[in-house]
Amino acid sequence: MSLKFLAASLMAAALTGLAGAAEINLYSGRHYDGDAQLYAGFEAATGIKVNVIEGKTDELLARIEAEGDASPADVFFTADAGNLWRAEDKGLLQPIESAALTAAIPAEYRDPNNQWFGVSRRARIIFIAKGAIDPALVQTYADLARPELKGKLCMRSGSAIYNLSLLGGMIEKIGPEKAEAWAKGVVDNLAKPPQGGDSDQIKSVAAGECAVTLANTYYFVRFLTSDKPEDKAVADKIQWIFPDQQGDGAHVNISGAAVAKYAPNREEAIKFIEYLATPEAQSYFAKGNNEYPIGSATSDNPALEDLGPFKADTLNVAAYGRNQKAAQEIMDRVGWK
Ligand SMILES: [Fe+2]
Repeated sequence: MSLKFLAASLMAAALTGLAGAAEINLYSGRHYDGDAQLYAGFEAATGIKVNVIEGKTDELLARIEAEGDASPADVFFTADAGNLWRAEDKGLLQPIESAALTAAIPAEYRDPNNQWFGVSRRARIIFIAKGAIDPALVQTYADLARPELKGKLCMRSGSAIYNLSLLGGMIEKIGPEKAEAWAKGVVDNLAKPPQGGDSDQIKSVAAGECAVTLANTYYFVRFLTSDKPEDKAVADKIQWIFPDQQGDGAHVNISGAAVAKYAPNREEAIKFIEYLATPEAQSYFAKGNNEYPIGSATSDNPALEDLGPFKADTLNVAAYGRNQKAAQEIMDRVGWK
C-alpha cells in the first residue's frame, strides 16, 4: 500500500467515523473563493455539516477511483460539463431522481441520464483589445480562424478542459472535419504558443501581445470589479463580444454536482445538490464567483449584468464530454498544444 493511498484510507476512516451526525463529504474541484458561502448557507438551511475535500478535478477522480466502494465521497462538485463527464465515464457517479432539480435546471444543463446537474453557468466569449481590431471581424467563433487574424490570437492550451468542451460542442454542431479545420485556423493565427490560464489570456490582450482571445465571463468580471488599479487598467483596455448572436448563441458551460456511486450519505447529498439550485445558492454563485444562474437570464450581480443580455447556445452540455476524446485528438493533430 502506498503512503498516499494509506493517507487517503485514514482520511476515509476519519470521515466515515463521524457516523451519527448528519453530514456530507464533498469532493470539490472548483477553485473559487466564494464557495465557502455556499457550504455555510447549506449548513444553516439544513443542519447538515459539509466536510470539504478540495483538489484538482483529475486528482479527486483518481482518489475516488482508488477508494472504490469504500469511498466516503458523497458529492462530486466541479466546473465544466467535460469534467462531470469524466466522472460519469469512469463509473464513479449514480443517477438520482429529483423533481426539484429537473424543475429548476433547464434540460440542456443536466445529464440526460440524471448522473450530474449543472448548477451555475458561464459563457466562453471573445475579448479584444479596444481599437486594435475591427470588432466586425470577430463576431463568431468561426471568425477566429479568419486569415485576417494571422498573428493576432492568444489562446489557452488545447488540453485545457474549457477549450476541449468548446471544440466538443463544435464537433456536435458542425461535425469533426469542419471543427478540425477551425482548430487548424486558430492555431495558424496564434501570436504565441498557448500558455497560462484564462486571466493570462485577457492580460496578454491588454498588454498588446495579441488582439483577440477567448475566456470565461467570470474571469473578465473579476478584472472589472477588482480594487487593484492594475486590474482595472486591464479591464479598461478590453472589449467583450458575445459570439454567434445572429446564430446559435454563445458557448455556455456549467459548474455542476453529482452524487458519488458509493455515497454513504446519499439522501443528504441529494439535498445538497437541490440546495445549489435554490435562489439563495444561485445568488452566491453570482455574487461570489460572477457566474450566471442556471435557470434564469438575470443574476443578482450588477457587474455581471453590465456585460449585457446575450443569446446562449441551447446545445445540451453533455455533448462536450461525449466528444471530448475526438476534440483532444483534433487538438493534437493541429498542434494546439
Ligand atoms: Fe475557471
